[in-house]
Amino acid sequence: TRIDKAGHKHFMAKEIAEQPGVIGQALSHYLTDEGEILLPGDGIDFSSIDRISMAACGTASYACMAAKYWFEQIARLPVEVDVASEFRYREPPIPARTLALFVSQSGETADTLAALRFCEGKAQSILSVVNVPESSIARESDLVLPIYAGVEVGVASTKAFTCQLTVLYLLVLKAAKDRGVLSEAALADHISALRGLPSVINTALEQNTAMRDAAYKLSTARDVLFLGRGHMFPLALEGALKLKEISYIHAEAYASGELKHGPIALVDEEVPVVVFAPRDVLFDKTVSNMQEVMARKGKVILVSDAEGIAEARDGVWATIEMPKIADALTPILYAIPAQLLAYHTAVAKGTDVDQPRNLAKSVTVE
Ligand code: G6P
Repeated sequence: TRIDKAGHKHFMAKEIAEQPGVIGQALSHYLTDEGEILLPGDGIDFSSIDRISMAACGTASYACMAAKYWFEQIARLPVEVDVASEFRYREPPIPARTLALFVSQSGETADTLAALRFCEGKAQSILSVVNVPESSIARESDLVLPIYAGVEVGVASTKAFTCQLTVLYLLVLKAAKDRGVLSEAALADHISALRGLPSVINTALEQNTAMRDAAYKLSTARDVLFLGRGHMFPLALEGALKLKEISYIHAEAYASGELKHGPIALVDEEVPVVVFAPRDVLFDKTVSNMQEVMARKGKVILVSDAEGIAEARDGVWATIEMPKIADALTPILYAIPAQLLAYHTAVAKGTDVDQPRNLAKSVTVE
């Protein structure tokens, strides 16, 4: 089948817009009408697993980082995350009852494949979350969970990221259920929130103009900081990566609380700071870090929900309003502003959005 831009200016824009649909697809593959989670084949029984070890590259590694917060908080399962290129050279000792989990859009990334083979050599059971079910990583895994995102053409990953997160979230719920740490009622709440995700993401996409306006402000910056706490930290990393990849603006992400231990020295009136802060239990802490930025004349773009913006908008440079969603699902929702801020900044700068310089869609060398 021929893939075209379906009326969009770039594949990246098309793939961003496709997210409500493909996330819905992914959910329908793994959820029965009754709200049971169905994994392919014999699935996996998390009651025999004590620990997960994850490895991936680039955007997929940030999906792993977000999933680590979920596995630990919701399923009470310890997780380690490595960038795949570091994993095997670290020669990590691998305790029994560890599950090795690899995430890759292409399923061909050399570093990720090498990490997988390292685990294979240690006789670990291997689970992978991939977009291409015929890929090498899929073929060499004991169990494969496809993400059903459809072909992704833009070099900067977008819909694959949110579909990876969606499938990982389902896996977390399965783990929590197997381990007996989630009541039936709580599980049903998680599932119903998940089912609402496509429509909430649609609402987020409707904020396009606000994101474009904020991106226009970013487009003249030389450096941009991204901040987030808890499971918003991986999203800050993803926002900074997206911006670097396609707009070539230097961007760094920090866990909000780490700002004072160094990076705040960079802040002045020239440095925009994007803050991902849904109104959750960590909101007040993030806002106090944001105020430290503003006290040094940093220009803050606050990404939050209506309640958070109403509470903290004083003195910020721009706001982007996200709809409200269950706290645990904000990493999937806040991918939208991470993507669209980078996209519109790149468009404003006139860079080659779908084929950024020096990058490849799939990196098959180490
Ligand atoms: C390349 C791409 C990134 C991607 C990474 C991992 O570097 O430019 O966008 O996140 O590879 O790719 P994978 O196919 O393993 O998810």
